[in-house]
Amino acid sequence: MLLHIPHVLGIDELRSVQSLILEAHWQDGRMTAGSQSAQVKNNLQLEETLPQAEQARHIVSLALARHPQFITGALPKTVYPPLFNRYAGTHNAFGDHIDNAVRTHATSERHVRTDISCTLFLSDPSSYDGGELVVQDTYGQQRLKFAAGDAVLYPGTSVHRVEPVTRGERLACFFWVQSMVRDDTQRRLLYDMDMAILALRQQAKHDREDSSEVVKLTGCYHNLLRMWADV
Ligand code: NI
Repeated sequence: MLLHIPHVLGIDELRSVQSLILEAHWQDGRMTAGSQSAQVKNNLQLEETLPQAEQARHIVSLALARHPQFITGALPKTVYPPLFNRYAGTHNAFGDHIDNAVRTHATSERHVRTDISCTLFLSDPSSYDGGELVVQDTYGQQRLKFAAGDAVLYPGTSVHRVEPVTRGERLACFFWVQSMVRDDTQRRLLYDMDMAILALRQQAKHDREDSSEVVKLTGCYHNLLRMWADV
């Protein structure tokens, strides 16, 4: 499932993250790439241990934790601490690759199975040319470029790339989620069901209590989640 999540960061959070990371020291993105992706990775990445990276990561993590669409779409069990990258000048692209299946966090040594790959856009799309995130989806190729502060979630199993940035610069935050529901199809079904139940409850918002159908559907949602969740 490819899921666009608008307004993960508010304008103040976005400005704070931008100013924190822009003044920090950037290193070659190949430092953290696997051997296949290192061949095609040509961007800059913020060193994880920098205080600016720590502060920016904190802002993003809080925003994610309180965003209902992220929670219901990802059903997160573990989120890899968000990282930041920059595409500009000669470090301007990342060719086709699939993210490593398991990421081990350097300081905590915790493992995260990368069920879901996430990009949080941090640059205004009108400020740069190129830089589309291209994801090979079940339904073909998706070319994605969203507003600053918006995020996109896609299955970790997807081949993807970032097109060359030919003007300006593209800042982004990226991270992975190990989901309580490992299977993408099951996660999609739960998401659709959750959204439909929400819409039904909205339509009937003047009723004193939920209809018995809504109660049953909500029960089905939780019983499916109970069947599939690994917590
Ligand atoms: Ni990737």
